[in-house]
Amino acid sequence: MRQFGLRFKLLFLNFLFMAGVVGLSGWVASADANPFNKGAKLCEECHEAEFKVWEGTKHFKSFRTVHREPKDDSKPSPKKILAAVEGQKRMKRNKACSLCHYTQEQKEADSKPQVKSGTSCESCHGPSSAWLEVHDNYGGKDVKREQESAEHKAKRIADSKAKGLIWPSMKYEVAENCMVCHGLAHPDLTADELAKMLGAGHPINPDFELVKYSQGSVRHRYYPPNIKENAEMNSAELSREYVVGQAAALVSATNAMSKSADPKYKAAQEKRVANAKAGLSGVPEAAGLLAAPTRANAIKFAADIAGKDLSAAVGGKLPAKSDYK
Ligand code: HEC
Ligand code: HEC
Ligand code: HEC
Ligand code: HEC
Repeated sequence: MRQFGLRFKLLFLNFLFMAGVVGLSGWVASADANPFNKGAKLCEECHEAEFKVWEGTKHFKSFRTVHREPKDDSKPSPKKILAAVEGQKRMKRNKACSLCHYTQEQKEADSKPQVKSGTSCESCHGPSSAWLEVHDNYGGKDVKREQESAEHKAKRIADSKAKGLIWPSMKYEVAENCMVCHGLAHPDLTADELAKMLGAGHPINPDFELVKYSQGSVRHRYYPPNIKENAEMNSAELSREYVVGQAAALVSATNAMSKSADPKYKAAQEKRVANAKAGLSGVPEAAGLLAAPTRANAIKFAADIAGKDLSAAVGGKLPAKSDYK
C-alpha cells in the first residue's frame, strides 16, 4: 500500500507541476471527473484469487478470439458489424467496440489509452484511477483490516464510492452496470448506433438474467471469515440477486426502448421489458417499480428487499445450476 501511496503522490505532484507550467488550471478537476482504468494487472497483486477466476471467464478469454472472422456465416461477423459503425475498422482500435469488449488502460491521466485486455475488473468495479489509493487503506500503514474502526470503514467506503468504486454491496449499481453492455444500451453510444450494430448481426440476448450470468464462471465471492472459499449464494441471496437483476433489466430496457425507433432494436428491448416484468410479478415490494420503472424506484426497491428472503415469490423462476454461464 505504501508503495502505491507514494506512486500516486508523485504522480499528483507531477500533474500539478505540468498543469502550472502549461497553464491548464482546469485540468486537475477534469482528471478527477474523468477517471480512467489502470488495468487488471494492478489488482492482481492483492486479489490473486479474483484474478484467477477472471482468467477463466469469457470476458478474459474472448480478447484473443472475438475479432476473428468466423468461418460459419451464421455467426456474427465483426467485419459486418464494424462496417455499420463509425471509426476504425479493427475491433481493438474501434472506440465503440472497445467500450464493451475491451478495457482501455492508461498509465497516467495524460497517457494514451491502450487496449490491453478484455472486459475486466474495472469494467465492473469502476475505473480505479481515483479510488485505488483509498479503498484498501484501513487508517494508516500499520493498521490491519481487522483493526479498522467502524468510523474509518464507513468513511473509506463512502470515499471510494465517491471516487467511482462500484462496491459489491451496491447490488443495484453492480447489476445496472452489467446491463449497459449486455442490454446493448451503452450511454456513450446513441441508440441509433446500437441499432445499426444489431442490424448488422450483433447479438443481443434478451434472456440475460443476473443469477444465471453472475453465479457461474464469473462468480468470485471470497468473503471473510472464509476468504479462501469462493462461496456460493444461499437461497435468500439468490432470490434477491434475481429480482435486483430483473429491476436493472427493466429500467435499462425501458430507457433503451424509448430512444430508438428501429423495429429490431425496439423489439429486443420490449422482450427484455416483458421478461423483467414476468420476473418481478408476485413480488409485492416491486409494485411501485412496475408501475413506474425509473432508476430511483429501482434503487428504492433494492433497498426495500435488502436482507429479505424472497424465495417463496421467485423460487420457481430461479435458473438451474447446470444452466449457469
Ligand atoms: C495494495 C492492495 C490492493 C490493490 C492493488 C487492490 N486492492 Fe482491492 N482490496 C484490497 C483489500 C485489502 C481489500 C479488502 C479485503 C477484501 O475485501 O477482500 C480490497 C477490497 C476490494 C473490493 C471489495 C471489497 C469488499 O470486501 O466488499 C473490491 C471490489 C476491490 N478490492 C477491487 C479492486 C480492484 C478492481 C483493483 C484493481 C483496480 C484492486 N481492488 C486493487 C487490496 C487491494
Ligand atoms: C454495448 C456493448 C457492446 C458494444 C458497443 C459492442 N459489443 Fe459486441 N458484444 C457485446 C455483448 C454483451 C456480447 C455477447 C452477447 C451475447 O452473446 O449475448 C457481444 C458479442 C459480440 C460478438 C459475438 C461474439 C461471440 O463470442 O460469438 C461479436 C462478433 C461482436 N460482439 C462484435 C462487436 C463489434 C465488431 C463491435 C464494435 C463495432 C461490438 N461488438 C460492440 C457487447 C457489445
Ligand atoms: C463481470 C463483472 C466483474 C468483473 C469482470 C470482476 N468483478 Fe469483482 N465482483 C463482481 C461482482 C458482481 C461482485 C459481487 C459478488 C457478490 O458479493 O456476490 C464482485 C466482488 C468482488 C470482490 C469482493 C469479493 C471477493 O471475492 O473478495 C472483489 C475483491 C473483487 N470483486 C475484485 C475483482 C477483481 C480484482 C477483478 C479482476 C481480476 C474483478 N473483481 C472482476 C463483478 C465483477
Ligand atoms: C464492459 C461491458 C461488460 C460488462 C460491464 C459486463 N459484461 Fe459480461 N460480457 C461482455 C461481453 C462483450 C461479452 C461477450 C464476449 C464474447 O462473446 O466474445 C460478455 C460475456 C459474458 C458472459 C459469458 C456468456 C456466455 O455466453 O458464455 C457472462 C457469464 C457475463 N458476460 C456475465 C456478466 C455479468 C454477470 C456482468 C455484471 C456483473 C457482466 N457480464 C458485465 C461485456 C460486459
